[in-house]
Amino acid sequence: MLYEKYGKYYDLIYSSVDYDNEIDEISGLLKVENLNIGRILDIGCGTGTYLVGLVKKGYYVDGVDSSQAMVEVARLKINGANIQSKIILEDMAEHTFERSYDAAICLFGSFDYLYDDTKVTVLLEKIDQCLSKGGFFILDFLDIAYLKENQPKAVILEGQKGDLKSFRATLPKVDLQSERLELDFKCTIYRGREIVDYFEEVHSLRLYDNKQILGHIEKNDFSLKSKSKKGLYTRLLLQK
Ligand SMILES: C[S@@+](CC[C@H](N)C(=O)[O-])C[C@H]1O[C@@H](n2cnc3c(N)ncnc32)[C@H](O)[C@@H]1O
Repeated sequence: MLYEKYGKYYDLIYSSVDYDNEIDEISGLLKVENLNIGRILDIGCGTGTYLVGLVKKGYYVDGVDSSQAMVEVARLKINGANIQSKIILEDMAEHTFERSYDAAICLFGSFDYLYDDTKVTVLLEKIDQCLSKGGFFILDFLDIAYLKENQPKAVILEGQKGDLKSFRATLPKVDLQSERLELDFKCTIYRGREIVDYFEEVHSLRLYDNKQILGHIEKNDFSLKSKSKKGLYTRLLLQK
């Protein structure tokens, strides 16, 4: 199952990512309009790194994610930090959000696992329903035109956390026919000179063209406030 092993080691594998800077950027985007953003919903919250970082900045943040392994790590983190957030283990397109939020975020590939257009429509409707008027939605997605022009190269990502180290090799492939980015993760986990784990996972991420994504957004009456590049991702700041 996807993220089972990957989830267990996710924070180790991505330990070189500057999440503090990422969290500053997200909170910066949310301050742009001088709206009073207090409550955030993190959709596809993974191990909760954004969630915890945003709580530390003074927001109340809940999360939803469909991976048991990722949610377990996130819950351990919030319990350890004595944070009162609610982390829901469910498919983002199937959960009905009971509370209302001033902003929603769906970052770093989470949205690209929704392969089915009906699910995308349902999710956007659900976000629309749980956001307060004028609320923001920050969405990262993979833009097919950008990836066609900028074919990703082989990536080696090394991580270190405590006495564990990780080595992840990937040769990403853009498949224009199926409109997917195929990521074949090969991960070695080691302590000193001893390999403690090795696993492979193939993640298939959906690619969008601009018209498609804007079509989804317009259907739900979100307006586009800004668009920026974030590595392979395109980041949209949308307002209800
Ligand atoms: C690359 S991770 C990003 C996690 C987090 N947003 C971050 O930036 O650290 C993608 C996450 O999306 C979650 N995900 C994928 N499909 C999902 C779905 N249908 N419903 C809820 N979560 C989903 C995965 O379980 C995974 O935790």
